[in-house]
Amino acid sequence: MANLASVVRSPQALAQILQPEQNVCLLRRALPVALTGGLAGLADAPAFERKRVVRSVVDLAWLAEPLGPGRAALMVPDLSRWFAAFHALSGGVPAVGSVSVTRHDDCRKFHVDWVGLRLIVTYVGPGTEWVSNDGVHRPALHANWRSLAAINRRIVPDPRRVMAAAAGDVLVLKGESYPGNAGLGAVHRSPPIAERGGVRFLFKLTSPSTHCEDAECTIDHDAPSAV
Ligand SMILES: [Fe+2]
Repeated sequence: MANLASVVRSPQALAQILQPEQNVCLLRRALPVALTGGLAGLADAPAFERKRVVRSVVDLAWLAEPLGPGRAALMVPDLSRWFAAFHALSGGVPAVGSVSVTRHDDCRKFHVDWVGLRLIVTYVGPGTEWVSNDGVHRPALHANWRSLAAINRRIVPDPRRVMAAAAGDVLVLKGESYPGNAGLGAVHRSPPIAERGGVRFLFKLTSPSTHCEDAECTIDHDAPSAV
């Protein structure tokens, strides 16, 4: 099987995700210095999540508002940059944006998303983990399971195949609902943080599922068989 995941060094190269054989594209980048300083101390911020369809910088500012006026003002230019990039990648279809601070283990099971494209930037904390297709035992994605560790070992038999984004990196995943990508959705998970008292600060943009015709919808449409 072709190499379906790529790591790139320029924002323009994120367009590789549009190649039919690609389902993951990661841009490695250092966080801008201003953000590194401005986000210091975020570990003490209250947890929140805001989500809405993003059409302009006004929506991005609303998403970031709970960070407080100083941090929100600092964040909006970077959020705008990736919104513009995502807008181009997704052909201008409405994108649902979310900004969150979390201390929970969100999706620790390796899984696929039932969406078109999804962009994820982790600004603080460990980044999203993913596995290229040839490291995934895909039938196990829908197997019944009782032990999280055991099912993750079935899905990804060799843990050395797990890749991880770092703070600042821009990760673009192709979901099950992307045209022509059914059965090849990017396999990924949120890294566990709760046990160690960790915190993550995330920005996501999602193009809608083809299962949903509501352009204003902000719901992730999981497959009925997903666990
Ligand atoms: Fe996911």
